[in-house]
Amino acid sequence: MFAWVVPLIATGLLTTTATGDKINNTPFPKDFLFGTSTAAYQIEGAWNTHGKGEINWDRFISANPALIPDNATAKVACDSYHRYLEDVEQLKQSGSQFYRMSIAWSRILPHGFTNKINEEGVQYYKRLFAELNRNNIVPFVTIYHFDTPQAIEDLGGWTNSDIVTWYGDYARLLFRLFGDDVKYWMTVNEPKQSCHFGYGTGFFAPGTKSPGVGEYECVKNIIMAHATAWRIYDEEFRSTQNGQVGVVIDTVWYEPDNVTEVSSVLASEFMMHFTYGLYANPIVFGDFPDVVKERVARRSAAQGFPRSRLPVFTEEEQRLVKGTFDFLGLNYYSTLMIRRDPNADPHGKGYDGDNEVFTYFDDSWPMPAKKNMRVVPWGMRKCLKWIQRVYGNPPVYITENGYPGNRTLDDVERIDFIQSHLSSVKDAMDIDGANVKGYSYWSIMDNFEWRFGYSVTFGLFDVDFETQNRTARKSLEYYRKVISTRCLVEKCQDSVGDNSL
Ligand SMILES: *[C@@H]1O[C@H](CO)[C@@H](O)[C@H](O)[C@H]1NC(C)=O
Ligand SMILES: *[C@@H]1O[C@H](CO)[C@@H](O)[C@H](O)[C@H]1NC(C)=O
Ligand SMILES: *[C@@H]1O[C@H](CO)[C@@H](O)[C@H](O)[C@H]1NC(C)=O
Ligand SMILES: *[C@@H]1O[C@H](CO)[C@@H](O)[C@H](O)[C@H]1NC(C)=O
Repeated sequence: MFAWVVPLIATGLLTTTATGDKINNTPFPKDFLFGTSTAAYQIEGAWNTHGKGEINWDRFISANPALIPDNATAKVACDSYHRYLEDVEQLKQSGSQFYRMSIAWSRILPHGFTNKINEEGVQYYKRLFAELNRNNIVPFVTIYHFDTPQAIEDLGGWTNSDIVTWYGDYARLLFRLFGDDVKYWMTVNEPKQSCHFGYGTGFFAPGTKSPGVGEYECVKNIIMAHATAWRIYDEEFRSTQNGQVGVVIDTVWYEPDNVTEVSSVLASEFMMHFTYGLYANPIVFGDFPDVVKERVARRSAAQGFPRSRLPVFTEEEQRLVKGTFDFLGLNYYSTLMIRRDPNADPHGKGYDGDNEVFTYFDDSWPMPAKKNMRVVPWGMRKCLKWIQRVYGNPPVYITENGYPGNRTLDDVERIDFIQSHLSSVKDAMDIDGANVKGYSYWSIMDNFEWRFGYSVTFGLFDVDFETQNRTARKSLEYYRKVISTRCLVEKCQDSVGDNSL
C-alpha cells in the first residue's frame, strides 16, 4: 500500500536544492535481494468467493460508494485469485527474487476466528506458494495488510485489546499451515496508516474518528499483536522452520527547513520518533520514545485528561514487546520539510495535533502525476541513516517504494524514480554502512489503491481493469536489468562495494 503523505499545512515558501543526484555506479552485493510488492485486498478480487468473509473495507466502501473515485470497489481488482499464474509469470518477467504479498485474514478465517478454517482459501495460498517456490521466487508474506475481518471490526477492531489474542491465533495458524513454504514473514503493514487513518481521522476503514484516543489504543494493540506473533514464531516454530519475522513501518523523511535552527532540527527528530519510532521503539527497546510519552502526557494534562491519552506498556508488556524483530521493514515514498509550529492548536488531540509541527513540500521537488507526494530520493538515505543511528544498525528491508505515474507504458519518470532511489539506498550502504538487505518495488502491477481506487497507478505492469489485460511498462525492462546486472547504470565500476565477495 501507498504510505499516504499528507502535508499538515501545504505552503511551500522556502526552497532547498535537492542533492544526491549522482547515480551510484557500484554493483549491489550478490546477497542483496530485489523484489516487488502487492497486498491481498488490492489485487485478489474474489471478495466473497469460495467462502471468503466480509472485511472492514468491503463494509466501509459499500456503506459509502462515493468515497472512492468512480465509485470503484475491490470486488474484482486484478482478479489475482483466479489469475495468480499470470502474477507469477509477471514476477518471472521482472526478474524479482522475492515477492512481497499478503494473506487475506478472512479468506483463511471468514469470521476472523480459528474455529472455522476456510479450506479453499488455504488451498489458494498453498498453490501460490508452490508456484513461487517452483520458480525460485521467495515469498515474503505480510500477515495483516489493512484487511480486518468484519466480525472483528464489529468488536472494535484494533481498538479492542482482545484482538491481540485473536491475531495471535491467526498468525499461529499461518505459521502451521504455510511455514514450510514461507521463510519470511511480516506481521503488520504500515501500522500508522491503520491506526491514524482507521481510528484517528476516519479516512480509512472502519472510518472511526477518535483522534488521539482510539488511534493510540490501536497503536498499542497493533504493537502487542506484532510482538505476540513474533514470540509465537520464536517459541513454537523457529527451531523447525528457521524463518524470520519482521514488521513493516512507513515514514516520510522530515527535513528541517533550517538546519541551523535548533527548533527545526528538534521538530524533525521528534517527528521521526513519532512516526517510525512510535512503532519501532517499542519493538526494539520495549517502550514508546520518551519524547513522545512526554509530549502526549503534557498535552493530555493541559486538555484536562486524568492521564495521558497515550497508553502505557506495563513492565511485563515491555518485556514481551522488546526485541521482537528479525528485521525492520521500511516503506518510503517521500519527504516533507518541517519546522516547529509555534501556533500549534493546544486543543488538537490526534497525531496531527500532538506533533506541534508545520510541514510542507519544497516547491523545487518534482511532482508525480498524482500530486500527493514529491520525488525526493535523498530522503530515503536519511531515513536509513536515522534507523541505523537510533536502533543500532538493524537489518532493514525496503518493503515498499514506488512511483504513482500517469497511465502510460512509456514511463521514463518511473525509471528515474527507481534508479535515483536505489542509488540513495546504495549510498546509504556504501557511505553510511547501513545494513540494508533488500528492496521491493511497489508494485508489480497497477491495483486498487484504497481510497484512491484505480486512479493511482504504480505498476511495472499496466492493468486494463475493463479487460484484465496486463501490459509491461518500460520500467519493467529497466528493473529487470538492474536485478540481473546488480547495477543501476549501463556499466558499473567493477565490483567496488561488492561486500559479498
Ligand atoms: C456513486 O455513488 C453515489 C452514492 O451512492 C451515487 O449517488 C452516485 O450516483 C454514484 N456515481 C456513479 C458514477 O456511479
Ligand atoms: C536559520 O536559523 C538561523 C538560526 O536561528 C538564523 O540565523 C537564520 O537566519 C535562519 N535562516 C533562514 C533562511 O531563515
Ligand atoms: C501526466 O499527464 C498529464 C495530462 O496528460 C500531464 O499534464 C502531466 O504533465 C503528466 N505528468 C507527468 C509527471 O508525466
Ligand atoms: C489484450 O492484449 C492482447 C495483447 O496485448 C490483445 O491482442 C488483445 O486484443 C487485448 N484484449 C483486449 C480485450 O483489449
